[in-house]
Amino acid sequence: MSQPLEWGRRYLMVRPDHFRIDYVINPYMSTQDQPDPELTLKQWDSLRQAIVDAGGEVEVLAQRPDSPDMVYAMNLGFATADGRAMLSHMRFEPRRKESLTAADWFTGHGFALGRPGSDGVGPHFESGDAFVFGDSLVVGYGPRTEAEALKHLAIEWGIRVRGLRITHEGMYHLDLPFCPVDSTHALVYPAAFDAASQAELFGIVPDPIVLTDDEAFAFSANSIVVNETIIMPACSPRLHEILTGLGLRVVVLDLTEFHKAGGSARCLTNPLDFDLTAITAPGGEVILPT
Ligand code: ARG
Repeated sequence: MSQPLEWGRRYLMVRPDHFRIDYVINPYMSTQDQPDPELTLKQWDSLRQAIVDAGGEVEVLAQRPDSPDMVYAMNLGFATADGRAMLSHMRFEPRRKESLTAADWFTGHGFALGRPGSDGVGPHFESGDAFVFGDSLVVGYGPRTEAEALKHLAIEWGIRVRGLRITHEGMYHLDLPFCPVDSTHALVYPAAFDAASQAELFGIVPDPIVLTDDEAFAFSANSIVVNETIIMPACSPRLHEILTGLGLRVVVLDLTEFHKAGGSARCLTNPLDFDLTAITAPGGEVILPT
């Protein structure tokens, strides 16, 4: 029997006052295709409102003028309901200043801060790669997060971490090919991973909802579940039927301005209420696909 997710009711979002494409660090970005500031703000606000309408809470952080990708708050750090946060150590230098503001925000809001690395020293970790699901913290590694960071997470917090190696360059964070829906269901796009990790993925998710190429590249897995609502940037009729069949209310929003830099509903929201209780492993444990 599936149960609702234990997290996903409290989010941090960054108001897109300085969203631009100044550099290219993923295949979706082009400095020739800039977002429209007015439409950007309108789309962002529709997401904030949809979360509130679904019974969720949103905290808003101001965007640094020097950090155009900071709107993708999912990458600021991995935060738990009991007040712990693992700060991201961004793979690419232009995003590292975001962590200065994120560190202040998390400590200012009572979170005890951990960091796998900073300023290019120590393993990279981007929190868009990490979700609690089943008995572990599932972490995507390869394009952004490095395998070494998984060890850090496991040991520092005494938790079980399962790694999935991402090999698809268009799916550079785990939140692009993977979206937990409830305790047993998740949207998954297996082609994002190497063969061993695909097998591991099907071991982790009891009831996988496998996306087509078109669904995956419309960012369908970059969705968020808030209580019984799933907020999505795109939903095919096929997916709609599956999700409503699970008792979910499907809300589809136009977030296309944010697709220009390679992110959507999930990337724009950082859950603040992950629960590590079910994934505790004294001393820490890392399971990598073999
Ligand atoms: N331009 C951003 C980057 O490449 C997009 C981040 C998308 N965020 C996410 N959680 N997938 O870093």
